[in-house]
Amino acid sequence: MSKDLRTYLAELDRHWPDAILRIGREVDPREFHVSAVLQHLEDRGDQRVVLFEKSLDLEGRTTNFSLAYNLFVTRELCARAIGLASSDAKMPLSLEFSRREARRVEPEIVPLSRAPVKEVVRTGGEIDLSRVPMFRYHEQDIGLYLTMVAVMKDSEENFYDVSFCKNMLVSPKRLTVSLQRKLHKHLLNIVEKNEEHDRETPIAMVIGHHPAFYLGAGALTTFGNDDYGTIGSFLDQAVRLTPSESLGKDFLVPADAEMIVEGITPPHSAEIENPFGEFSRYYQPQVAVPYMDVTAITFRKDAIVQGIFPGHPGHFNLGGIPKEGSLYREIKRVFPGVQAVHMPHSGVGRYCCYVSIKKRREEDGKLVGTVPHVFTNQLQFVVVVDDDVDVFNEQEVIWAAVTRARFDKDINFLKGMPRSDRVIIDATVPLNEPFPKKAVVPREALEACVLEEWIAPAKSAGKKAVGAAPSARKARHAGS
Ligand SMILES: Cc1cc2nc3c(=O)[nH]c(=O)nc-3n(C[C@H](O)[C@H](O)[C@H](O)COP(=O)(O)O)c2cc1C
Repeated sequence: MSKDLRTYLAELDRHWPDAILRIGREVDPREFHVSAVLQHLEDRGDQRVVLFEKSLDLEGRTTNFSLAYNLFVTRELCARAIGLASSDAKMPLSLEFSRREARRVEPEIVPLSRAPVKEVVRTGGEIDLSRVPMFRYHEQDIGLYLTMVAVMKDSEENFYDVSFCKNMLVSPKRLTVSLQRKLHKHLLNIVEKNEEHDRETPIAMVIGHHPAFYLGAGALTTFGNDDYGTIGSFLDQAVRLTPSESLGKDFLVPADAEMIVEGITPPHSAEIENPFGEFSRYYQPQVAVPYMDVTAITFRKDAIVQGIFPGHPGHFNLGGIPKEGSLYREIKRVFPGVQAVHMPHSGVGRYCCYVSIKKRREEDGKLVGTVPHVFTNQLQFVVVVDDDVDVFNEQEVIWAAVTRARFDKDINFLKGMPRSDRVIIDATVPLNEPFPKKAVVPREALEACVLEEWIAPAKSAGKKAVGAAPSARKARHAGS
């Protein structure tokens, strides 16, 4: 069976019945309904996938669309999406990520008649983006946004690049393509190569698919990689592709998507967008970005419009997890003693990196700390700890930093970098001087102690938990 968002939701229902929160009340995109609900859930520690079953459109009309959020909100969900156990959600997930990045499963082409995303086709005068639910998430967001991925095809070398890229609604037939000219992204490279020859750039937005499709789109591939093959690796199945409706038969789009918005980006196009609350949790300032004139919208009759809550945990996981695996491998090349790498949510999955090592020489911590800075340019600071510290437990990392680093010697800077110097904190125990031992309960005593023999079973054990607190539910998910 072809994997899509529906097969994934059904699988969650089958194996983890508590994993999805279904909300029957109607969502109005003219209000902040979606982000208000998601913020409340986050504040309560409720990390379920959220399905808003009814949504109005941008003019307040009833639609057949529902909305899916929080598909990437925990590492456990990201692990499940690619077929791993929740217990593999730390380093094993990141390593599996980098293995899948390096592998390819070639796509399969299917006719239009076998593509669920072609159930409804709107072209020409039928195109009206005000019929598609889009959202403002934060108080000062300038407009309504889609937040999923764009597909472009390199016209010279014929590969597809698939990357996350938001779109702001400009008019019923126009969206921005949020690629800032000052950054050198793959998608922008394709646009700019076309612009050199005064060519337009065809583009397709994929709004709703299996979460593994999006995890694959977030993989750190090189320019020239055909991303549909990488996404197939994450799906563990060929991505089914079908000809676009308006961008030519040779431009292929995912057949099993919920909705595809096709369009053309004219050469040197520019629209002002932002402020928009971004991954940094700050408003991104106004900037000119390319736009797309929409040439077709195709969708399932009851499409599930998928979104990311920007600047919140799902966004951090999508940015951070792919980097952990890649950084682990890069560090391992020069330092075999690396144990684990974590890009924590406190650093929005991009700005800060914790690395644990088996230290053998005094300089190891300082040298290893330089490597992540070379491979991700958004990174602001790296903390290197010993292997007795769990890098996925931030409290332990900070404990190591404040008790093991001597700040006059162990904080180093990469000077002269854009915006700010980059920081390396060596929080490993010094080898060449006496240092107190970490206090631990004897291992033999721990192994000999079977806790159940010491404590009475909880009174509620065996009773069905009614209205369990979200944190309890979360704990059950994490362990399942
Ligand atoms: C959820 C998510 C949303 C993103 N949105 C944007 C965006 O709107 N604009 C942008 O330039 N980068 C965005 N990014 C970052 C790019 O997807 C990322 O830099 C990627 O490496 C660019 O890939 P590319 O170089 O293949 O284009 C986003 C990343 C994630 C994970």
